[in-house]
Amino acid sequence: MVKVITAKNAGFCFGVKRAVETVYEEAEKQQPVYTFGPIIHNDVVVRDLEKKGVRVINSLEEAAELTEGTVIIRSHGVSRATLDALASNPAIRVVDATCPFVQRIHDVIAKQSAEGRKIVIIGNKGHAEVEGHIGWSVNGAEVIETEEEARAFECDPETPLCIVAQTTFNAKKFEDLVAILDERRYNRYVMNTICNATSIRQEEARRIASGVDLMIVIGGKNSSNSAKLFDICSKECENTFFIETREDLELHLTGSETVGITAGASTPNNIIEEVQSYVRT
Ligand code: F3S
Repeated sequence: MVKVITAKNAGFCFGVKRAVETVYEEAEKQQPVYTFGPIIHNDVVVRDLEKKGVRVINSLEEAAELTEGTVIIRSHGVSRATLDALASNPAIRVVDATCPFVQRIHDVIAKQSAEGRKIVIIGNKGHAEVEGHIGWSVNGAEVIETEEEARAFECDPETPLCIVAQTTFNAKKFEDLVAILDERRYNRYVMNTICNATSIRQEEARRIASGVDLMIVIGGKNSSNSAKLFDICSKECENTFFIETREDLELHLTGSETVGITAGASTPNNIIEEVQSYVRT
């Protein structure tokens, strides 16, 4: 009998799980239900929600035309202006499924910018979460993604700064970029707002992979966090496989007494369970 060890932190993080569950619950309660942008970057989940009558809208123009229904804000959150614009349509109900960790950053940005600090966000330009953060500052925000940008950053030395991070930003890179800004000796308040869901998932995957004969990483082909998990596990276990669904699982389990399973951040639980029961049989 094969012993299967499935990571407790495989798949959705707390915030995404909460948002996806919210959509399913709302779809049960009443129709129509819309999500403001895809709730998650996973086609299987988005298609399953479509079957339950959940549609994706992508702009405020579309939201303004709605004459009834519920609009759900995803875990990334949105800017204050977007939230206000959605709320200004009296025909719709807005359910905010912003992750509480993202919400906390919005609150910090709103407070610190109102107190006169210039907001610096260490993160990826154009990322939906970062766009949302910018929109909670009362005086705009600077986004810094690279060392070159950190070196090129200029600000009146009298202006105090508040530096925060995109929740999924790389922790080491964040420290390096803050260190570059520190060379200028600004009066700054730094809040490391990186969420530890990713590092916990990676640490657990590493630990499991180091003790099994065969390791399975489930994730989308284009998912960079899944590719990273595969990298980590491959270093610990040379029998590591990267699969997208159970159908990709053409493994020779012969000789494997222990099998480990983990999954990237956008892998739904039912796919993890399917793989798990397939390996067990
Ligand atoms: Fe997920 Fe929320 Fe962290 S969405 S990655 S738990 S900030």
